[in-house]
Amino acid sequence: MSSRIPLPYPRKVLELFKNPKNLGRMEDANASAVAGSLACGDMIAIYLKIDEGKNIVEKASFESYGCAANIAAASIMTEMIKGKRLRDAWNISWKEITEALGGLPSVKYHCGVLAVGALRRAIRAYFKDKNLPKWLPEELTHEEKHALEEEKLMELLYRKNDSGKV
Ligand code: FES
Repeated sequence: MSSRIPLPYPRKVLELFKNPKNLGRMEDANASAVAGSLACGDMIAIYLKIDEGKNIVEKASFESYGCAANIAAASIMTEMIKGKRLRDAWNISWKEITEALGGLPSVKYHCGVLAVGALRRAIRAYFKDKNLPKWLPEELTHEEKHALEEEKLMELLYRKNDSGKV
């Protein structure tokens, strides 16, 4: 018998985990980004189709190798940003995502943070060869730093493990 205690996920999380919306690579995306690391399995890719004239998110999709919370967070986030101005999509916070899911166990907050980190990277990538709008901060936000820190940590652990091999 397993001694593991299941996490208290709200129904919405379980629903979206089983039937995620906007799952899959987007072939006609004009912005995309990856956050996290495959080494630990927590990796997410975000794809955006942006209306260049209006700066509106026409479509959004994702691929996730994260946990149920990450899949649900990315799924609801892609729903929330569809039809939004880029500026408003940028301002979506992991707390809003968590609320829309009906809450997440605190050990799973980072799954939503990672989703927002990937979204913000994708928006930055979109502006790579364009003039930066005033609302886009030059400094990385908390969510982007979080993604970066996770990646660095995983790289370090991966190297350590690798160098320990005989
Ligand atoms: Fe890391 Fe959910 S994405 S535990």
